[in-house]
Amino acid sequence: LRALARTNAPHLSIGTAAAVIPTMTDSAYRSILGREFSILTPENDMKFQFIHPQRNGYAFAEGDSLVEFAERNGMAVHGHALVWSEANPRWLAQGNYSAAELQAIMEEHVKTVVGRYKGRIKEWDVINEPLKDEKFNVNLGLRDSIWFKAMGEKFLDIALRAAHEADPDAKLYINEYGCEAEDDKADALFTLVQRLQSRGVPLHGIGFQVHEDIGKDSDGTYDPVSASEFKRTAKRFTDLGLEVRVSELDVNMHGKVTDTLRSKQAEYFKSILARTQANNRFTSYAMWGFTDRYSSLQPEGEYNEFGNGLIYDEHYAPKLPYHKIKEALQGP
Ligand code: G3I
Repeated sequence: LRALARTNAPHLSIGTAAAVIPTMTDSAYRSILGREFSILTPENDMKFQFIHPQRNGYAFAEGDSLVEFAERNGMAVHGHALVWSEANPRWLAQGNYSAAELQAIMEEHVKTVVGRYKGRIKEWDVINEPLKDEKFNVNLGLRDSIWFKAMGEKFLDIALRAAHEADPDAKLYINEYGCEAEDDKADALFTLVQRLQSRGVPLHGIGFQVHEDIGKDSDGTYDPVSASEFKRTAKRFTDLGLEVRVSELDVNMHGKVTDTLRSKQAEYFKSILARTQANNRFTSYAMWGFTDRYSSLQPEGEYNEFGNGLIYDEHYAPKLPYHKIKEALQGP
């Protein structure tokens, strides 16, 4: 896939989330990761809870091994995720800190992690999922978090400025889900970005996660956001001078795997890719893992069924989406 993209869509990196355990222990996983993809996103290993497990202690071994793997395989790394409402270690999530202490903790974290990988990780999800989920008034859209409670909206300014100071050449992203459609969550992201730009905050890109579903309803009729609607939404942001990326694509089948849904899923992967090929302000077409064996769409909680949402099955056989993506990358 990466070789085809290099020829037919040179602006586009083909990416996937990756985890250090299978990368270091599963040779089939490792060989597909290094062969098919040109950029990887650490799925969890660089999140606050794992990379900064004690107040005065960082744990870089896992992140380092993913970066070294990427460099050995001529791959880029998309750093994920510096500041988020989730995946915070207990010492932070349950601590009792003043606003000033939380700001200092956040700035130190961002500068330490970005600084360590300066020149090696060239793009970061500095802020992950800052927006509330439900339909809301576009001016009040920020999700509650320890950061928002302490600093208000300015936590974004402070985190982005700290990342820029630590590595002025790194491309700084906000990564969000559910903003692909032309609706009020996308509007809230758009007005947030406009406010950040009006304050001169360094921001280079938006990651659209594109976690989509088919087969969600009992009769399997659920339709994902259309690629043409997503194209229009993405253009609003590239018209602001930003680059954009598909950051976490998966198409959850909610356990309803029929031939009809299989081909619908494959066509969807292809239609989203086509939009990224057509707009050269897209920097990556990245999925949230590549094999159902390690997908985050595992049975849990209310959705107690497999998502089957990726392009290789659990035995590393390429599925129909893989072939459709390859077809699209081969060009006309
Ligand atoms: O590694 C620990 C293990 O030592 C411990 O025993 C176990 C039980 O507590 O937890 C393990 O950590 C889990 C981690 O995944 C690694 O498996 C965390 O509990 C679990 O919360 C974490 O889930 C991740 C989730 O983000 C929350 O961080 C998923 O794997 C990951 O796929 C998911 O990815 C997110 C993106 O970062 C942001 N966009 C949405 C996307 C999907 O939810």
